[in-house]
Amino acid sequence: MNNETLLKVSGLSRQFGGLMALRGLDFQVRRGEIVGLIGPNGAGKTTAFNVITGTIPPSAGEVHYAGQRISGLPPSRVVIAGLARTFQATSTYPKESTADNIYRGMLPRIRESLVGPVTGRYHRDLAASDVPAEIERILKITDLERWARHEAGSLPYGLQKKLGIAVALATKPTMLLLDEPAAGLNHEECNELARLLLRLRDDHGLTLLLVEHHMALVMSLCQRIVVLVQGEKIAEGTPDEIRQHPAVIEAYLGAPDYAHA
Ligand SMILES: Nc1ncnc2c1ncn2[C@@H]1O[C@H](COP(=O)(O)OP(=O)(O)OP(=O)(O)O)[C@@H](O)[C@H]1O
Ligand SMILES: [Mg+2]
Repeated sequence: MNNETLLKVSGLSRQFGGLMALRGLDFQVRRGEIVGLIGPNGAGKTTAFNVITGTIPPSAGEVHYAGQRISGLPPSRVVIAGLARTFQATSTYPKESTADNIYRGMLPRIRESLVGPVTGRYHRDLAASDVPAEIERILKITDLERWARHEAGSLPYGLQKKLGIAVALATKPTMLLLDEPAAGLNHEECNELARLLLRLRDDHGLTLLLVEHHMALVMSLCQRIVVLVQGEKIAEGTPDEIRQHPAVIEAYLGAPDYAHA
């Protein structure tokens, strides 16, 4: 890991009518880190992802990625910058195969494809002839090879969530934002997810921002954790610091659901 700041979120706010879903959020993620973003339901975690990735505009504040200002850019441009995300709900095309879903994520990278911005800085690093090998590569990283031809909608839930990660990886990101990847997973699937996320960082050089309620997973994977409550950052620190932080225990970790996590 080096100390280069990859993602810089500054004074980020988002209002929905009278509701302040994000209030002046500041945090940074360095290249090679796994950072957790946690907090109770409705704290603004998904809203933060939506604003960072350009799905919705901020009411105030800025986001920089790899030194480039990305706030104000549409999602397709944010992906070009190297930032991909997964969704809290499974978000694949259920009637298409696992491989075809991955292909969709890859489309803007293919030189012969008309999908995605034709101009701009998109890599377009793939010739059409290289696409099958690239799909294989993604299937292998995510251990989905055996499911390549199955309809996405027919996969067990845990694998559908993993396919969401595979589709994001197909864009060849340098950073991945994961919105509750462990939700609904059983114990074994959860362990497998943890191994996948560590491989993504250690073998594939990805930087990760992880939104998760599964505290054991967050505490074991993340070097640093940012805690949001009602749109506001109330704490930031190492897992040990966060575990013992009075305001975090009061607002979140002390809740019965998480007390033993
Ligand atoms: N499009 C929207 N329009 C209006 N209000 C919204 C919208 N999106 C989110 N909100 C509100 O903003 C607040 C933050 O929601 P958000 O989904 O970001 O929370 P979260 O931290 O992701 O929660 P969870 O852990 O339940 O996923 C909530 O009060 C939510 O109802
Ligand atoms: Mg959410």
